[in-house]
Amino acid sequence: MALALQAPQVPALLPVPSTVSWRDGRMPLDSTLTVAIVGHRDPRLERAVGRALRRLEARLVQPLPRAIGGEATAKLVVRVGNAGYAVPDLREDESYTLDVAGGRATLAATTVVGAIRGLETLLQLHEVRDGTHWLREATITDQPRFPWRGLLVDVGRHFHPPEVMRRILDGMASVKLNVLHWHLTEDQGFRVESRAFPKLHQLGSDGEFYTQDEIRALVAYAADRGIRVVPEFDMPGHTTAWFVGHPELASAPGPYAIERKWGVFKPTMDPTKESTWRLLDAFIGEMTTLFPDRSWHVGGDEVDPAQWNGSPTIQQWMAQRGLKDAHALQTAFNTRLFTLLAKHGRSPVGWDEILTPDLPREAVIQSWRGSNYLVDAAKQGRQAILSAPWYLDHIKTSGEMYLEDPLPAGHGLTPAQQALVLGGEACMWAEYVTAETVESRIFPRIGAIAERLWSPASVRDVPDLYRRLEVASRHMAEAGPTHEEHTARMVRRFASGEDAEFFTQLLDYARPRGFAGRGTNQLSPLTRVIDAARPDPWTEWRMVALAEAARSGDDEAGRMLMSQFGLMRAFPDMVRTMEGRHPLARDVIPVAGALGELGAIGEELLGHRMNGTSPSPARAAAIDSALTRLVGKTFGLLRPVGGEAVKRLR
Ligand code: ACM
Repeated sequence: MALALQAPQVPALLPVPSTVSWRDGRMPLDSTLTVAIVGHRDPRLERAVGRALRRLEARLVQPLPRAIGGEATAKLVVRVGNAGYAVPDLREDESYTLDVAGGRATLAATTVVGAIRGLETLLQLHEVRDGTHWLREATITDQPRFPWRGLLVDVGRHFHPPEVMRRILDGMASVKLNVLHWHLTEDQGFRVESRAFPKLHQLGSDGEFYTQDEIRALVAYAADRGIRVVPEFDMPGHTTAWFVGHPELASAPGPYAIERKWGVFKPTMDPTKESTWRLLDAFIGEMTTLFPDRSWHVGGDEVDPAQWNGSPTIQQWMAQRGLKDAHALQTAFNTRLFTLLAKHGRSPVGWDEILTPDLPREAVIQSWRGSNYLVDAAKQGRQAILSAPWYLDHIKTSGEMYLEDPLPAGHGLTPAQQALVLGGEACMWAEYVTAETVESRIFPRIGAIAERLWSPASVRDVPDLYRRLEVASRHMAEAGPTHEEHTARMVRRFASGEDAEFFTQLLDYARPRGFAGRGTNQLSPLTRVIDAARPDPWTEWRMVALAEAARSGDDEAGRMLMSQFGLMRAFPDMVRTMEGRHPLARDVIPVAGALGELGAIGEELLGHRMNGTSPSPARAAAIDSALTRLVGKTFGLLRPVGGEAVKRLR
């Protein structure tokens, strides 16, 4: 294999720890791996150690001793100071040190969660060499850069059942994420069982909701992995599904039906009726028994003022109180909602639209419309988290998302203001994902964001990220998520034999288009070729690495790249043989054409480089205009891969 593609010479730690000092030695891993827990010990810690050992057993294909023994003889010593918070908490100490030396590993942490983070690092030190298993010896000290490292999962638009949520939590834990932001209600679905107001889930969910027992179990599952669960009940907009069972909550008369389309809709809660507040008071009280986290997400995004502006009683209510517009009414709504949350011991988080000068100070602002809202919030003395660049549904590459930072160079914040920037969240909105595809859109790309939020700000090398992410992707999959087999599994449904081989091969060279543009709604099956595609196939970075190597004279890299260009050039002919035979050939005809052109240009440019020649000025100009037309552009529902590598050869 060309040098440019080789796995890292040292184990692929992701996220990169604060400090790592490698030793020369390696600790053998075999069935004599005995474990001791010294200091604080509790069932959560024992379960975490057990999970790590089960993963090692599977890699070693050998059982390991199940008994947790004494320190004197143990090869892995886990030393913990205390339990930490009973409910995972923003203030949790997640630091740990890991010392693997002289054939023994010592993991030390103040809290159980710190040990949980360190166990993931320990699993990443494993390597197979010389026919056997080892832990690479090193001394590591580590702690997160930001305390809020989250993932939003939208289950309102498409429902993801508990087993999918458990796999997502396992994958999150493997890259040290610590907040699940659970977007539970939307125009298209109300996903929580309410015993106080059963019409909410009975009429608002198509029967797809979490029972209270399932929620308790998932919250406990998350807590076991040191993950907070922040529920979002988006209001006053994005609330159609509430109104199917409770039309009296809305600002215009019903009846209402579950929304099937995507977009921003008019149904909005009526904040002027006391009955609205009585229901919210009882509902919040009920939900706090399920969601113990202090943070409560109020939503607050994309409020269409049409119903408020169109209601004479609401307009009169506003006039009596001197509220001049819908934004003022939303601030009044939030102010009262925050008081209610405080009564129930909860503290608000909201989307950046809620940020008005009069807004009470305690709200954490989640920036989604732009990073500037985060800076604005911090300048106003408010806490904030970043999401704007991290919408996973926009299908950006890991490399693109990786370089975004909650505190970018030149942010202009004082140290006190910087401390208000708590971190960030990736957002997995669910217009275009189902339970079947959601894991492939989150993993492995979330690893890039997890590293940004955990590792020192100076860790920013994109090629190195990709080399490590390829290894980390397998670790994420080992923990739970099914992303690694995604394409093969989905292609199998719509194709077999040679056709399946063709689609699978082509999907190494094609990625989904970005957000929207599909014309689907909630009832549309998402089982086309775009759904089987991966957001950031490894082919892209590997070809770029090969192109860079070929430029600096690596002939082996050049030959490998040339054969990839040859395959790309063949795609149009290959797809033509399927036309009229396979109904989904139409999904890939446009992108196959683009890949064919890119492959031909790649062969031409690489040929020039290898021969020490160059294209004529007229030909060079024609190539440039072709690349402008092809690279990063959408063809049908797909975008070609490989264009970045071709560009490096210009
Ligand atoms: C949002 O994307 N509407 C928060």
